[in-house]
Amino acid sequence: MLIGSFRPANPVFVAPMAGVTDRPFRRILSRFGPGLLFTEMISAAALVQRNRRSLRMLELGPDEGPVVIQLFGKDPNVLAEAARLAEAHGPVAIDINMGCPTPKIVRNGEGAALLRNPELCGRIVAAVRAAVRVPVTVKIRKGWDEQEVTAVEVARAVEAAGAAAVTVHGRTRQMFYGGKADWEIIRRVKEAVSIPVIGNGDVDGPQAARAMLEQTGCAAVMIGRAALGNPWIVSRTVHFLQTGELLPPPSLAERVALARLHLSYLVEDKGERIAVPEMRKHAVWYLKGLPGANRFKDRLYRATTEAEMAAILAEIAEA
Ligand SMILES: Cc1cc2nc3c(=O)[nH]c(=O)nc-3n(C[C@H](O)[C@H](O)[C@H](O)COP(=O)(O)O)c2cc1C
Repeated sequence: MLIGSFRPANPVFVAPMAGVTDRPFRRILSRFGPGLLFTEMISAAALVQRNRRSLRMLELGPDEGPVVIQLFGKDPNVLAEAARLAEAHGPVAIDINMGCPTPKIVRNGEGAALLRNPELCGRIVAAVRAAVRVPVTVKIRKGWDEQEVTAVEVARAVEAAGAAAVTVHGRTRQMFYGGKADWEIIRRVKEAVSIPVIGNGDVDGPQAARAMLEQTGCAAVMIGRAALGNPWIVSRTVHFLQTGELLPPPSLAERVALARLHLSYLVEDKGERIAVPEMRKHAVWYLKGLPGANRFKDRLYRATTEAEMAAILAEIAEA
């Protein structure tokens, strides 16, 4: 598959996830060879106002795999200006968020609210495309609700406006993250457009990735929640798609070691005061499903320094 002139090394992508796919986690994920990574969604309006925190989110590290910067907004001109700022940081593409279901975002006409206005979706892509040289992609959902399934219409509109690829999450806005993703809508979008379609929703392992590719004809799969604390899913899926062989899941020692590395990347990037609280959720994800991990959870949540958290992790590895 080609996104503009960029050819991903494999069809296993990791989803944009706010509060999760920051630079430290992308650095971790990059060790597992994803075809493409995405930043967290970044507010175009905040970028244009030169908000410091948002500008920082544009920074890509030297040891990350190919990264797409995702922006959210609704005003074509604001998104175009934000895209110019983003492009200077060297992303493979600029992605526009047209699927975020959060009430605060959709009330503002952004994220999934755009699914109700395919014409505006097209204008946004046209404006951003005119502003940057890198390819412009979009990430959409099935529709607003079951009465308003607009994925095909929106995909056609953004393709006509020059989008280089479209990701389809097979849930409506009304479903948020509940229920089951509808893969049939991914297949329908794939049949309706000629740009690459990236399938998203409920890919929870290597077999599901193969099933989605087969059932929908999508060019790549995008993994979201199943990658939380589990970046191994990326290399295991790539390997499975290439060879049909299922590699064993990571050992406890491997999980703890990677959590430790993740913590150090977070501290390096954000400083201990911010990193330690942010690491708590990741640490619990890394330990998910491991027998006896629960009794460490409370302690991980109370840890306030890197040394404290590292000591708890070391204890878990020895337990
Ligand atoms: C914590 C979290 C944060 C998310 N943030 C974003 C985001 O910033 N941009 C976006 O397009 N989608 C976001 N999503 C949606 C995911 O990219 C993905 O579409 C969704 O989780 C479905 O894929 P999955 O079933 O593999 O998790 C987020 C999802 C989660 C769980």
